[in-house]
Amino acid sequence: MLLSAQNVSKEFGNLRAVAGADLAIEEGEIIGLIGPNGAGKSTFFNCLAGETLPTTGKIVFDGVDVTTASPETHARLGIGRTFQVPATFEDLTVLDNVMVGAFLRHPHRTHARAHALKVLDLVGLKDRQDLRARSLGTPGRKRLEIARVLATGPRLMLLDEALAGLTPAELQQAIALVRKIHETGVTLVIVEHIMEVIMTLARRIIVFNQGHVIAQGEPQQVVKDEAVIEAYLGRGHRNWRKKD
Ligand SMILES: Nc1ncnc2c1ncn2[C@@H]1O[C@H](COP(=O)(O)OP(=O)(O)O)[C@@H](O)[C@H]1O
Ligand SMILES: [Mg+2]
Repeated sequence: MLLSAQNVSKEFGNLRAVAGADLAIEEGEIIGLIGPNGAGKSTFFNCLAGETLPTTGKIVFDGVDVTTASPETHARLGIGRTFQVPATFEDLTVLDNVMVGAFLRHPHRTHARAHALKVLDLVGLKDRQDLRARSLGTPGRKRLEIARVLATGPRLMLLDEALAGLTPAELQQAIALVRKIHETGVTLVIVEHIMEVIMTLARRIIVFNQGHVIAQGEPQQVVKDEAVIEAYLGRGHRNWRKKD
């Protein structure tokens, strides 16, 4: 098992954003993590990536207890995550942004640069390497965010709505990119509201609601699950395509 999370909770005052969630990830999986807005998906990612300390629970990555480890330790062990709001360095060039990630495993500048260029080639941004990050449009920024994380050499990548805000054509390219990343041997957990992305990519779906895992299994089964339909539609509104 690559990652195991047991009874993970995160409380903000009286609010239990994550309330005793369990998750087991096998190497090579592509897991879709879905759930209505406010279900606790991003907070759960924060716990898994070491950005926030869980209130309860235990997280083990590749045999190492990482529950209280720093984000840097997580990155070094091979857990990378993208942020719902892209965390790129706006005034740096595209290449420099990716080199920031590459330095984790390539301390020498020339090696970091070569590695970053390889990653930029993979994500299709090599021709824009000298542009400032701020000058990229939405699809470019999404790709840059993915590239920066990819350059850290993750074994597990957590994508938090990394494909939101794209046109249908851009979405197809982004789906192809995620497949390509998976083919290089990276295990993926994808949070996404766009069900087309989840249904196309995920072999297994985990459904979050109010901080709990309320269903999991094969995509075709899970979308028919009564508890899942209730979580999304029960309060009389549709969240499938709504952005946070
Ligand atoms: N830093 C924080 N402080 C207080 N409440 C938070 C914080 N982060 C998230 N929350 C709350 O936790 C709940 C889960 O949020 P989040 O994890 O962002 O859900 P999702 O990603 O599924 O939309 C929400 O009610 C949100 O308002
Ligand atoms: Mg979120």
